[in-house]
Amino acid sequence: LPKFSFEEARVPKDASVKKLLIEALNKNEYLKRLEVQQIRDMVECMYQRSFQQGEFVLQQGQPGHHLFVLADGRLDVVQHSKLLTSIAGWTTFGELAILYNCTRTASVIAMSSTLTWALDREVFQNIMRRTAEIRHQQY
Ligand code: CMP
Repeated sequence: LPKFSFEEARVPKDASVKKLLIEALNKNEYLKRLEVQQIRDMVECMYQRSFQQGEFVLQQGQPGHHLFVLADGRLDVVQHSKLLTSIAGWTTFGELAILYNCTRTASVIAMSSTLTWALDREVFQNIMRRTAEIRHQQY
């Protein structure tokens, strides 16, 4: 199995954390159409990443390698040096480049020391492909 396969990428986590991650993914405008099992699989494979105050979590114009849920801390979303918004706890971000294979539409900067849960693009794609294959087998 490649290391980005869903089965290999699972990271154990508390039920309370899983619940918060599921809620954060489900309230995202672009992810809420995904199936319940796809969201569950994503949550299973998310892992912690922390950032220091002032650090770029991701940068506008660059390719996207992860989507994130903010667990703790505060983030600013900046486009062409202009502040678009601030993000508070248990919000999904960085989903656009992962879903649409575009470059990052904005930069996200840690305004405090920050804890996120990240999901690798390859694992996300693996989860989507897996669903398609299971569905194909049913016909
Ligand atoms: P992505 O383009 O992958 O990387 C930058 C992220 O910033 C983007 O995904 C969204 O999650 C977020 N983002 C972009 N524009 C806005 C906006 N206007 N308001 C809130 N979040 C945004």
